[in-house]
Amino acid sequence: MMLDLLKQRKSIRNFTEKDVSDEVINYILEAGRLSPSGGNAQSWKFGLIKDNVLINEISQIAYNQNWIKTANFLVVLCTYNGDKSRGGRDIQKSRFPSHAKIIEDMEDEIYTRLHMKEHQTKIPGTHMVIAALEHGLGSTWISYFNVDELSNILNLPKSYIASEIIAFGYPVNNENTTEKKSLSEVVFYNKFI
Ligand SMILES: Cc1cc2nc3c(=O)[nH]c(=O)nc-3n(C[C@H](O)[C@H](O)[C@H](O)COP(=O)(O)O)c2cc1C
Repeated sequence: MMLDLLKQRKSIRNFTEKDVSDEVINYILEAGRLSPSGGNAQSWKFGLIKDNVLINEISQIAYNQNWIKTANFLVVLCTYNGDKSRGGRDIQKSRFPSHAKIIEDMEDEIYTRLHMKEHQTKIPGTHMVIAALEHGLGSTWISYFNVDELSNILNLPKSYIASEIIAFGYPVNNENTTEKKSLSEVVFYNKFI
């Protein structure tokens, strides 16, 4: 059952040296490929990083999160932001009419970096995390990294932004499970108050 799997999930920041087969990695990537996206644009690339030198470098540009070095592989979720016409300013202005002027006036460079499209990669990432769990693999999301430096070391074209990284591997399993809020704390029914 999906809920049983999700109850087992916790962020893993210590991985064993056991290798992950290409078959399992492809299963995880395939789960990401099948994600929904606005307008079915699928405006993403998934960077598979297995090279240890690169993993070490990424750990440094993630502000020295040393635990990342223990990962067996990383997936860098990248968002295509070169197309200004779809999911672009007009859609965001309709979504946030009270901020339409700010959205309109924002310089391209800043706008694309804070682009809502970036959030869409959370969906394939979530698929991947769950697919990994099915195979006994743990993972942790990483958002705290220098996006500019990561773009440089991965030779990303300017039209792609690295939105998140997910570290994967077999867990050592010495992490505690975190407390989650109860349903009554997180759900509201019909109207908020
Ligand atoms: C979008 C996102 C970004 C995160 N970035 C980091 C990160 O940079 N470094 C880190 O150690 N954990 C990171 N985490 C993991 C969270 O700290 C973790 O999910 C949270 O503490 C809840 O714990 P749990 O995943 O075990 O339920 C991130 C999680 C999410 C969802």
